[in-house]
Amino acid sequence: CGIVGYIGNQDSKEILLKGLEKLEYRGYDSAGIAVMNEAGVHLFKEKGRIADLRKIVDPEVSANIGIGHTRWATHGKPSKINAHPHQSSSERFTIVHNGVIENYEFLIDEYLSDVEFTSDTDTEVIVQLVEKFVNDGLEVQEAFRKTLERLEGSYAIAMIDRQNNETIYVAKNKSPLLVGLGHDFNVVASDAMAMLQVTKEFVEIMDKEMVIVTKHNVQILTLTGETVKREPFTAVLDASDIEKGTYPHYMLKEIDEQPIVIRKILKEYSDNQGELKIDQTIVEAIKEADRLYIVAAGTSYHAGMVGKNFFERLANIPTEVHVASEFVYNTPLLTEKPMFIFISQSGETADSRAVLVKVKELGYKALTITNVPGSTLSREADYTLLLHAGPEIAVASTKAYTAQVAVLSILAQAVAQSKNIVNGIDLSHELSIVANAMDTLCEYREEYEQMARDFLSDSRNAFYIGRGLDFAVCLEGALKLKEISYIQAEGFAGGELKHGPIALIENGTPVFALATQENINLNIRGNVKEVVSRGANACVISMKGLDMKGDAFVLPEVHPLLTPLISVVPLQYISYYAALHRGCDVDKPRNLAKSVTVE
Ligand code: G6P
Repeated sequence: CGIVGYIGNQDSKEILLKGLEKLEYRGYDSAGIAVMNEAGVHLFKEKGRIADLRKIVDPEVSANIGIGHTRWATHGKPSKINAHPHQSSSERFTIVHNGVIENYEFLIDEYLSDVEFTSDTDTEVIVQLVEKFVNDGLEVQEAFRKTLERLEGSYAIAMIDRQNNETIYVAKNKSPLLVGLGHDFNVVASDAMAMLQVTKEFVEIMDKEMVIVTKHNVQILTLTGETVKREPFTAVLDASDIEKGTYPHYMLKEIDEQPIVIRKILKEYSDNQGELKIDQTIVEAIKEADRLYIVAAGTSYHAGMVGKNFFERLANIPTEVHVASEFVYNTPLLTEKPMFIFISQSGETADSRAVLVKVKELGYKALTITNVPGSTLSREADYTLLLHAGPEIAVASTKAYTAQVAVLSILAQAVAQSKNIVNGIDLSHELSIVANAMDTLCEYREEYEQMARDFLSDSRNAFYIGRGLDFAVCLEGALKLKEISYIQAEGFAGGELKHGPIALIENGTPVFALATQENINLNIRGNVKEVVSRGANACVISMKGLDMKGDAFVLPEVHPLLTPLISVVPLQYISYYAALHRGCDVDKPRNLAKSVTVE
């Protein structure tokens, strides 16, 4: 979910709606805004996208203060009733909330048993509680503070009071939140992108802080009432970075940007002599570890699987890769000197953050590899390495994945060099070759579109097979396809096929096979034969030098360890076109959110 707020002299409606459009990547199953003028609070909410909300917002209403929300349902199904903003019984208080209040049932029993609720959301409890404390005689600010003290869980909140059109009450715990500063106005947003339209100056809000935002002032307070002074920072993002330009979809734009991103990474991680370089304190922290634990979710987890190969093969460090949501409740046995690496495009994924919090409690060191400077995972880890991929807007991650893989390779090689391990790889040179190979790959869009037609036109399912590094990429390829086209897609290790999955092969079942590794080329070819002889429609994507007659696509040659950076590219495009052919909303697939800030 994402929230926004505006207070100033302009009409707030359009600023809020534009802000929500930029936050749609955080969820888009329902949305709403509440704006307030002398006539009172005007509430507009709708199931669906911001575009649907726009249609029902009354253009006649003009108001200088307002709050808004785009939702990814956790409590209560997506519906108009469950959409935010929510109001207290008397409709005096109106609130938007991102996060999950874990003790909301307890709070209802304890304080609100006589209140009639209109929604199924945990959010309504917050606003009802404020109203209850106000009815009990407290000032609004004090009632807000007292409510926050009682909340367990995560929240980014903005609240307005019908009896005071000069204040937005804001608070944060675990969920991301920034306050943006302007002349004669101030804004609130889950991230800077939403408000770049009006300001580039932002103040970070920390956990368990509340903020009293007026047109001219931003007062940050702790829950114990002390005032906090904090300098603003200037967002380095450019509003044009987050526009599609002439592209029909962000996803296509972001796939095409991959060669530029690799070159940018090379530049960012090179010293004056053009040598690849990583902050020595990070290299030392990794060298000291007896084992690396990579923790991530979704696509970032798949990048971690590739990264494991880099750390083990280049730098001789045993490495485990874990799904964040599993690790947090089923922590594996740790070695004596573990070091943690969190990979997260957004730097906000709640599952990963839960592990980070635990790791810090245990006193271990953590590095975050993320695309978003200042994100929660970046702030809370000991070290950060940035992806420099530029904002990734499409829900399905593409350029962030390749950026993660590239940064992991540079990190592993930096550790290898520092350990005086000679592996003979000129990584800077090899990554330049990768960027050039990606350029070439971007020129074959028509071929990928045709492949999507040939292999995925009317299939219900699709399989991806590979071994070693190719297997890791197969998992990512399958995830891409299922996320945006809703075709059931699974990645399998080639050798495992015969132990079960091959039972699924029917006449015409599409099977994508990757063959980029010399040592397993013949094995994977054998696996392809196994499925073809059972009727599969096999699409082999091989690397130059390993290609054979009948392969559907041949990739330009790159260093064998770096093949994931290029083998994934056709798979991304094929998913894109398959989704397009099915009429799916490529950038905003159903049920998904780009940044999942709930566990
Ligand atoms: C969500 C997105 C995925 C993403 C995952 C991890 O589920 O839909 O595309 O890979 O979160 O996100 P992160 O920002 O931590 O990389």
